[in-house]
Amino acid sequence: MKVAIAADHGGYKLKEEIKTLLASMNIQTEDFGCSCEDSVDYPDYALPVAEKVAAGEFDRGILVCGTGIGMSIAANKVPGIRCALVHDTFSARATREHNNSNVLALGERVIGPGLALDIVKIWLETEFQGGRHERRVEKIAQIEAKHTGVK
Ligand code: RB5
Repeated sequence: MKVAIAADHGGYKLKEEIKTLLASMNIQTEDFGCSCEDSVDYPDYALPVAEKVAAGEFDRGILVCGTGIGMSIAANKVPGIRCALVHDTFSARATREHNNSNVLALGERVIGPGLALDIVKIWLETEFQGGRHERRVEKIAQIEAKHTGVK
């Protein structure tokens, strides 16, 4: 599995901890910034990760900001992205099983690193269940196609 990761200044420290976890799991990871805690604009960091996941260059993306909200809103503007903002382990599992989410957003200012790393691990290791969920995910794609013309 190949993972693209990025954060703004509000998520920089957690991004670094997630990279250490991914390395320990032998997951190939590319970091799209930021590289320190200087103030930056989160859409600039959500965009490359979302585009590369949507293009199939990476299997999954992980985005971190202060709340995870800005990153998730920005990522979900890119056709093909199903970004889930998750702050509990139940949702981490459910969004993979039910939504086939391909990007995970986290808020460094919302939860501690212990829970965040558990969420990342569960989210990476849980498979999409398909079946009735496949039909629902396809309907999300139809909404996107209707409003963007991108199929
Ligand atoms: C930055 O201060 C903060 O707005 C950002 O990290 C994020 O929480 C946005 O949704």
